[in-house]
Amino acid sequence: MGTDERVSPLKNFVAGGFGGACLLLAGHPLDTIKVRLQTQPKASCGQYVLYTGAYDCFRKTVSKEGILGLYKGMGAPLAGVAPMMAINFFGFGLGKQLQQTDPGKPLTNTQIFLSGSLAGFFTTVVVAPGDRIKCLLQVQSSSGELKYTGPLDCAVRLYKQQGIRSVYKGTVLTIIRDVPSNGLYFLTYEYLKNFLTPNGQSVSQLSTPNILLAGGIAGILNWTIALPPDVLKSKFQTAAEGKYRGLLDVLRTLLREEGPKGLYKGFNAVFLRAFPANAACFFGFEVALKQLNSLAPGW
Ligand SMILES: *[C@@H]1O[C@H](CO)[C@@H](O)[C@H](O)[C@H]1NC(C)=O
Repeated sequence: MGTDERVSPLKNFVAGGFGGACLLLAGHPLDTIKVRLQTQPKASCGQYVLYTGAYDCFRKTVSKEGILGLYKGMGAPLAGVAPMMAINFFGFGLGKQLQQTDPGKPLTNTQIFLSGSLAGFFTTVVVAPGDRIKCLLQVQSSSGELKYTGPLDCAVRLYKQQGIRSVYKGTVLTIIRDVPSNGLYFLTYEYLKNFLTPNGQSVSQLSTPNILLAGGIAGILNWTIALPPDVLKSKFQTAAEGKYRGLLDVLRTLLREEGPKGLYKGFNAVFLRAFPANAACFFGFEVALKQLNSLAPGW
């Protein structure tokens, strides 16, 4: 009790970047398994499939390639996720700082939600073009036709062909996806942290399992409300020019062609990964923040 709860956006930035790296360390193996299962060739009759399921894929990958086999291709997402989480926690810290009048007084739930939403706006600046490029590259490899040689080539071509608007295509959907879900993400985390703290103790002494639990649930809730706009966004960003007349048209077309369950495509893979990844993210964040606080208390 009585600890100084002053927030430092700068420390949040550094600790958030570390949290982002932890998110990938925990989440990437599941992503590798997901992609290997998604892309394994169909067995023709009389042949065995390579992997019978997630666990089988895990076992075979580790026994053939070692643990590092699960971490293949992590460089590119690491270069994106760590800065993204740094900006995210920075925005969250800034939002809290702007609304905090007295360091001894905790923020209200609304203020925490708004701080998380502000952070969602900040990340949109890098996430919207990042997702546009990522989605275009992801669908081109599954359709077999190679239009772009890599992320940079894709960015340059979009820019040359139709200008910055094309690079930022899907920004409104990114905002719809990330602003409220990010508010809920941080609110869930802070709320659960308080809820799990025994009476009379300080939140800053919360045990590791409880931090992991709060972070994991925050990640699941984020995805639960972010997934429907995410599905729409991926469709919009990868559609041929002029296919949709607007955002509502994307929704209408999806509901007509696939029904409401189309909004929760890829549900299992995503949820399996959200818990451990976000548990690790918040845990990494808290550990790094504690270190920074003891190294540079005045910042
Ligand atoms: C929240 O969910 C969206 C999903 O669409 C995802 O892009 C974003 O990275 C998630 N945020 C966090 C902090 O996990």
